[in-house]
This record gives sequence, structure tokens and C-alpha cells, in this order.
Amino acid sequence: MLTRIQIPSSVDTTPIPAELAVQISSARNEIEAFQDRWDRPQIEQFVAADYPLVYQCLKWTLQHQPLVGQRFLEWGSGFSIVSAIAAELGLTAFGIEAEPDLLAMGRKTIQTWNVSVELVEGNFLPPGAAQLADDPMLPSLHHDPSDGYKKLGLELDDFALVYAYPWPGEDDFHEFVFDRYAATGELLMLFCGPNDVRLWRKTS
Ligand SMILES: C[S@@+](CC[C@H](N)C(=O)[O-])C[C@H]1O[C@@H](n2cnc3c(N)ncnc32)[C@H](O)[C@@H]1O
Repeated sequence: MLTRIQIPSSVDTTPIPAELAVQISSARNEIEAFQDRWDRPQIEQFVAADYPLVYQCLKWTLQHQPLVGQRFLEWGSGFSIVSAIAAELGLTAFGIEAEPDLLAMGRKTIQTWNVSVELVEGNFLPPGAAQLADDPMLPSLHHDPSDGYKKLGLELDDFALVYAYPWPGEDDFHEFVFDRYAATGELLMLFCGPNDVRLWRKTS
């Protein structure tokens, strides 16, 4: 069972360290340049989150919620900005991304930020998890890379905190997958759109 944890709305007043603000701002410029390129098809599944807000929510979570370990996993890591932030916050960060071009951009972020994040190309859905979807058209089902967990040598229940930015309408599916495969005590953070970051703990 997942139990919702309310992040206070005042979280958005948490100061953003100046150096992090600069890093986020230049990452946003990289994203815009990537999305403006005309010489290859757009990767429509990548949409940038509100990274200052995600930082504030992660910081609040680390200050106010017990963690069952130190491992952080970004489902669909894209430019890996959230996993880089998690690493800067002292977590042991990992990311799984299906799209090779995005994985390459994620590696660039990690290098530029000079943080340690293990990124792998693969599917963040554990084998068999697709069966939990009630809609066969959900975007996260339409990837066929190999099992990302196998490449990491870890299972979903080896992490303390998982973060994802689900496509609209996929948040329930992400919650079902987490509820089925995560460990008791593990946390799930979902960025669901502007001013909408949801935090859950698997409680049984
Ligand atoms: C909305 S973007 C969010 C990217 C990043 N997490 C962020 O917050 O900036 C969703 C990402 O998930 C990736 N993705 C979707 N389904 C996936 C799957 N089943 N396995 C691995 N990556 C997936 C997409 O390629 C895309 O990069």
C-alpha cells in the first residue's frame, strides 16, 4: 500500500544555492538547444520538469522523512538533472533512460556538474510490470530496451527513493508499479506538472 506524504506548499520558499541555480539555468539552455535541433526527429517523451521545485522537494524530503537507505533512482532520467541534484544532496544516484540520445545528454550533465551518477540505457519498468497498465497506449510502455535493473545489478526494492516525471495520465500506473515492486519504506516522488510534486511511501 502507498501512503501519501504531504509536502508543505511553503517548500517553494526554500532557497536555491546560487551555484545550483546557475547549473540548472545552463542545463535548461542545453535542453532548449537540443529540442530546437532540426536535423533529427524530436524525442516527444522528454519534457523538462521544474528543477528548482524538485530540488526544494528533495531537500525537504531528506530533512523531514526517514530513508531506508541512500540509493536514489531516476526513472526515465532524460538529461539526468534530477539525479545530478540528488547526487549533490549526498545520495547515491542512478538513472535509467530508454533513449540513447537522451542518455548521452544525461552523461554530459553528469560530467559538467562533476557528480557521480550511474546511468544506464534500459527500461525502468521491471520485467512483467507492463501488465499492471490499464491502457496499452501509455507512453512508458512503448520502449523495448533491455531491463535497466539487470544492467545496474540492482532491483527496484534496493532503492530508498525513486523519482519520475510521468506523462499526463501515467501517474497511477507509476504508482501501481512502485507499489508492486518497491520495498516497504521506500519513497516515490512524482513531478506531475507545475506546482504538483507528489510524495508516497510504501507502507505495507
Ligand atoms: C517527461 S520525461 C522526464 C525526464 C526527467 N526525469 C526529468 O524529470 O527531467 C520522461 C522520460 O522518461 C523516459 N522513458 C519513458 N518511458 C521509459 C521506460 N519505460 N524506460 C526508460 N525510460 C523511459 C523518456 O525517454 C523521457 O526521457
